Amino acid sequence: MSRPVCSVEDLPVGEGRAYVVDGEQVALFRHRSGKVSAVQAACPHAGGPLADGQIDETVVVCPLHLTAFDLTTGEAAGGEGSIAVHPCRVTADGLVEVSL
Ligand code: FES
Repeated sequence: MSRPVCSVEDLPVGEGRAYVVDGEQVALFRHRSGKVSAVQAACPHAGGPLADGQIDETVVVCPLHLTAFDLTTGEAAGGEGSIAVHPCRVTADGLVEVSL
């Protein structure tokens, strides 16, 4: 089920923010293209804060040890683990909705 989490304006373009959605820590990203992405907030390697990672349109790079995770599949570059990817969208009135 989709949950409204924040306004898209709460997410600086090109950055991420962490939120708790139904008790789960989720990292939301707003891309320069306007799309948004949602993934689990903690890196599976050692718990790095993925919301603080660098992003481009397709990957987030963990700020601790620089593993890149695909924001569509969740797969790590090099095949070392994966993260949960959550469907998300921006509604017509500017809310970011996430499905867990
Ligand atoms: S904690 Fe993310 S790569 Fe190590």
